[in-house]
Amino acid sequence: MPILASIAAASTRRFNLNALKRNRSCLSSLPILGSSVETLKLERNIDITQSQRSASSSSTNTRGFEHEHDEHYKWIQHKMVFAAIFGLTGSVLYWKSRNGAIKAASAKSSLQPGGGVQPGLPTYTLSDVEKHKTKEKRIWVTYKNGVYDITDYVTSHPGGTKILLAAGGSIEPYWNMYGVHKQGEIVEMLEELRIGNITEKPKEQAFDKNDPYANDPKRHPAIIPASSKPFNGEPPSAILTDNFLTPNDLFYIRNHLPVPDVNLKSYKLDISVQGPGKFTSFSFDDLKRKFHKKSTAVVLQCAGNRRSEMVKIKPVKGLNWGTSAIGNAEWSGPCLDDLLKQAGIDIDQVTQKHILFGGMDKDPAGSPYEASIPIELARLLKRDIIVAYEMNGQEIPRDHGYPVRIIIPGIVGARQVKWLTSIKLSNEESMCHWQQNDYKGFHSSIDWNNVNFKSVPAIMELPVTSAICEPIEGTDLAPDADDVTVKGYAWSGGGRGIVRVDVSIDGGKTWDSATLSPPKQPMYKTFAWTFWEATLPIPKNHKGKVEIICKAADLSYNVQPDSVEGIWNLRGVLSNAWHRVNISIPKS
Ligand code: MTE
Repeated sequence: MPILASIAAASTRRFNLNALKRNRSCLSSLPILGSSVETLKLERNIDITQSQRSASSSSTNTRGFEHEHDEHYKWIQHKMVFAAIFGLTGSVLYWKSRNGAIKAASAKSSLQPGGGVQPGLPTYTLSDVEKHKTKEKRIWVTYKNGVYDITDYVTSHPGGTKILLAAGGSIEPYWNMYGVHKQGEIVEMLEELRIGNITEKPKEQAFDKNDPYANDPKRHPAIIPASSKPFNGEPPSAILTDNFLTPNDLFYIRNHLPVPDVNLKSYKLDISVQGPGKFTSFSFDDLKRKFHKKSTAVVLQCAGNRRSEMVKIKPVKGLNWGTSAIGNAEWSGPCLDDLLKQAGIDIDQVTQKHILFGGMDKDPAGSPYEASIPIELARLLKRDIIVAYEMNGQEIPRDHGYPVRIIIPGIVGARQVKWLTSIKLSNEESMCHWQQNDYKGFHSSIDWNNVNFKSVPAIMELPVTSAICEPIEGTDLAPDADDVTVKGYAWSGGGRGIVRVDVSIDGGKTWDSATLSPPKQPMYKTFAWTFWEATLPIPKNHKGKVEIICKAADLSYNVQPDSVEGIWNLRGVLSNAWHRVNISIPKS
């Protein structure tokens, strides 16, 4: 990515706290990471910036800046460490002068580095801090025992939107994601904004043995809950494009039932075939040691991603997902074909019509979550389907299926069974509620009185989609902004790569082509997402609202429908219309 362009563009962006509030009800649960995080070298995470940088290191970008030398990037990276924390992409000069001033100040004033208790300052409670989320009430954050007022800082630095994501709460969970940010200089700088102490610890919830959800894992505070029991949540869209591989703790969570607590020693994966009754069982150790480990980056997307756009047309039943019930992770484990072969099953020869995947999470009647795919789909993907025991090189977190889940690339999230304990070849598809009576698409005249779930097949491959992750809805640009940088993701089911993302700043009258991140997978087996970016000129002398739109085309030239009205359905699934974000340019 053209770094200088991004700095300049970001510096023209002004945060809008009300916009953030409107966008997400719980500000304190939003992340602090800057768009500039992409300039930091994060191991494992190959981002669009890095790949585009190497692909076009001597090219000129749309704003006329040239990528010159790696040294230049190093310099920028150094300066942007602070920016990455405060989302301060446009404040390099400010940083330089302020850094000097603060060092001098802290030497003089015996400030406690690292958020220690500062004698002589008032002590606040967590609920005091929580009240300070807006400019009007002042914006406070905490770090260890420190309370900091960052209002003046963010107000005077347009582009510093991401620190607001931690407003009214602790910035630590966000720093923990990227340890590199915890540099002495940055902590010192934060100390300069110190207003008080906090000694209170967040209360642990008492364990209720009658609550089936009491043993659910803790979630990252950035995850915005869509429901708490069962837990469902998504990350804020503004951090989605920070990493090609979505960090495990920021990956959306879609649970229908309590999260099982699995004992690895007794874990078994049973393989069976209806009819001959063939039966084999593998331990976790077998899966790890007896098979070749395959790794592939695969997108999981909930069928209800972007449901909130459908809800605006007419109410639907379902969680009110924004644009982030989607994530891309590298999944590792044996491929299904190897496992079946070892169990003496040749998927090309079997007569059964379906392959069923059973989970360990059970409803109150004792029925487990289960899903199935047609055998012909399993044959097509047999060497791509992964019986995964790793997510992004780590053991799969409990929320995402520890210790083993099935990953079927290119299809809907609902079939990616977590806590996998059985694989069955059967003549019938799964009879599970979520296979039979949910996750199916209907036209907009079907309602709950006339719906016949038997009349259409279960959703498998998902349609092409794309979404704008930055700027977020309601952002105010600086009055003198002459362009805006727009970023997002695009993805299509069935392994169809993305060939084009179109962006418009005039409500769809005219279009620009976004720059796509270089493909990382074969075009006909593109299971990961494609990031894209475009810098759009603001129409001359324009003031007020601007609607930004994106739409993608996949390898089959499937395109997104222009409006959500025509694809509305009673469950709010398959919501893939052009994505629209409204921002504004205030009068100076
Ligand atoms: N597997 C089990 N066992 N239980 C579930 O509730 N939810 C499904 C699928 N697999 C589910 C499951 C749905 S609807 C989705 S979208 C994905 O898991 C979500 O996976 P994630 O929570 O790892 O993002």
